Parts: sequence; structure tokens; C-alpha cells
Amino acid sequence: MAVNSHQAAVAERTPVTAWDAQGVRRDFPILAQRVHGKPLVYLDNAATSQKPRAVLDALLDFYTRDCSNIHRGVHELSERATAGYEEAREKVRTFLGAREAREIIFVRGATEAINLVAWTFGRERIGVDDEVLITAMEHHSNIVPWQILCEAKGAKLCVTPISDSGELRMDEFEKRLNPRVKLVAVAHVSNALGTVNPVEEIVRMSHARGIPVLVDGAQAAPHMKVDVQELDCDFYTFSGHKVYGPTGIGALYGKAALLDEMPPFHGGGDMISSVTFEKTTYNVLPYKFEAGTPNIAGAIGLGAAIDYVGRIGMERIAAHEHALLEYGTRALARVPGLRMVGTARKKAGVLSFVLEGIHPHDVGTVLDREGIAVRTGHHCAQPVMDRFRIPATTRASLALYNTREELDALAAGVWKVKEMFA
Ligand code: ALA
Repeated sequence: MAVNSHQAAVAERTPVTAWDAQGVRRDFPILAQRVHGKPLVYLDNAATSQKPRAVLDALLDFYTRDCSNIHRGVHELSERATAGYEEAREKVRTFLGAREAREIIFVRGATEAINLVAWTFGRERIGVDDEVLITAMEHHSNIVPWQILCEAKGAKLCVTPISDSGELRMDEFEKRLNPRVKLVAVAHVSNALGTVNPVEEIVRMSHARGIPVLVDGAQAAPHMKVDVQELDCDFYTFSGHKVYGPTGIGALYGKAALLDEMPPFHGGGDMISSVTFEKTTYNVLPYKFEAGTPNIAGAIGLGAAIDYVGRIGMERIAAHEHALLEYGTRALARVPGLRMVGTARKKAGVLSFVLEGIHPHDVGTVLDREGIAVRTGHHCAQPVMDRFRIPATTRASLALYNTREELDALAAGVWKVKEMFA
């Protein structure tokens, strides 16, 4: 295990060489295809990103060589599977900068992680007239679990508004930090707008009043280096499939002291220490929160994805994507009638826009015929759409394998949409 964290640390220190865009693209076999006769331009990475061969190989290796259940068998295959799963946990620990591996809980994704916190931490700590404070730019997965909890407990869901550029109103946030607030839950990066929230400041202000903070990192973890100890957040969540890993796997980070106090989420095998009909005692962290057979292959695949991005370096990925974001923003700004939705000073990975008089679904359909994959709709963030008084946007979202040429293709595709609907 120590070897893996060491390897990741070495990879992070690898000297910066020129960005090898074509080499990176060759790592992702799916990108080499044509769609509707055109080279695939995949710009739907905020929904899910593509997988490098290293991840595909890790999955195939697991199923062809080591497939077995974990923590149970005394046989060789089970020991290999257990070692692979626990090594993956250690990789996630390093990836997030957590202090201890027991602070990393494997879950299906950020959605399950947030539900876990709502139904364990929230169930214990949030009562009648208490408040959960979120923001107006949350994904439904960081709204609905709190709404369900608040309804069940007679608590109140409070929302910090955002500005016209899609930035959090920190003055309004501070006003809402009153003694009734028992948890702040905030996106690190908005999936619909790309805004990077000042989570360090949010944590500092909340902690000054004794309020714990959950950070939804689903849209941040693929794009920037995360360090939960530096952020000092109490919970951090992300989904593996957005970080070039498999679907159905993700992680919840929680401070050990909090996780220890929290009741279990799901009951079942592996999360217990002993069971009788009279009383069950629970396993230690992290197993207390991992009932049933987990997504073993998924965790191992996620570990391979973390190794992959570690070899390139998160800082280099962030710099590459930032340059692309600026390039794409300039290219789209030249299209008459196009309005960018989300113009925060600090953004990551997302170009969300509307075209005057043309429905985003039409934009997406025409772009698809050009081989360009974008997402259109409300992006599971309906309150954001309401805030900007629009039903939907067209969203191009970036990954490390995207290129300027692809953004040129996007801009050309949007010009074509304009001509078709003129
Ligand atoms: N949350 C994902 C998105 O923004 C699915 O597209």
C-alpha cells in the first residue's frame, strides 16, 4: 500500500513535458471512432468521461484472473481480490489527500455518498426547526436527499443565491449561517455552470460557527487537485465514472471522528462485527458503511484511473483544460446570438450556452449529426435553469483528451445550427 502512495507521489513530481494530446487520445480507444461518418468529438464529460485502456485492462484482469469476493475467503483468489480492493482504497486516500484509509468509504457514486450522509449524520444531528444550507447551483443529488431529510425531520432547507455570472453570493451565504444550521452542503464545481466555489472560505466561515461542511466534488475531482485536509471539509464526495473510472463506483471521504459517531447506512453482510436476533454490533470503519458485496471490480478500475491521472499529473490536466476552456469560450463568443450561461471568474470544464431563438435540443441534435456529443437539458440542476429563466442549455464539457480542434469543430457546428434555423 505504501508503494502505491509513493508511486502516486512520484508521478505527481514527474517533470513537466510538452502536452502530448495525440498520445493521450490514443490511451482512450473509444475516441478513435466515427459517429454519423464524422470523427467523434466527445464533449459530454461532465455526464461521464471515457475510460483509458489502463482502466479497461484492470477490469478485464480482475474478471479473468482474480474474480472472487472480498474479506471473506481464505483462498488465493479472495486474498488477491481483497488486496486489490484495499489497494484501491489507498489510492483514493492519496488522490483526495485524506489522512487515513478508513476515512474512505466506497459507494456507487456521489449521489449515494450524499444520501449516506443524509441518512446517518443527518438522521442523528438534524431535528425540528434545524436548517441545512445549500446553494442555488446544486445538482439535484445535493438538493433532494436534504429535502427528503428535512421533510422527515421537520427541518428547513435553506438556499444561498447566486449572482448573474453564476457565482455564489458570499454575503448572502454569511447571512444564512445562523445557529440553526446544522450542515452546509455545497458543490465544489457546478455541473451546469462550471463555477468553482470558494470551498476553503465556505469551510472556514462554517467551522467558525461550529457547522460541518459536505463538499460535492463530482465535478471537481476530474479537473483539479483535491486535498481534503487542506480544505478541512468534513465530507467530500466524488464519482469514479467522471474521473475516467468505471460507473457504479465512487467514494465518500469523512473525517474519522464523524464517521465513527455516525450510525450505519445499509445493514447487511460485512458491516457487522456480530449478529444475534437480540443485538447487532457494527464493524469498524470503513466497513461499517459498506454492507453487502461491493463493486470490487469498479473499485479496482477506479484505482487504475487514479494511477492514470496521477501519471499525467492533476496540475497539468487542470492547466490543459483551463487553456481549452478559455479557447472554447472565445470561439463560442464569436457566434452571434450565443449567450454563455455561467461566466464566473473561476470556472472549470464547462461551456453552457443558449442560442437565441433555438431550443437546446435542436442544437444538440444538429451537433450529434456532426459527430459532436454534448448534453442538452437542465443537467439535473433545474433550480439553476429557473434562476436564469431558461428551460435548458447546451453544455459542452471538457476532459483531458479534448483538443482545440474539437472546440473549433464545436464552434463550426454551432454556426451550422444558426444557418439551419436562420
Ligand atoms: N451529473 C451529470 C451531469 O451533469 C450526469 O451531466
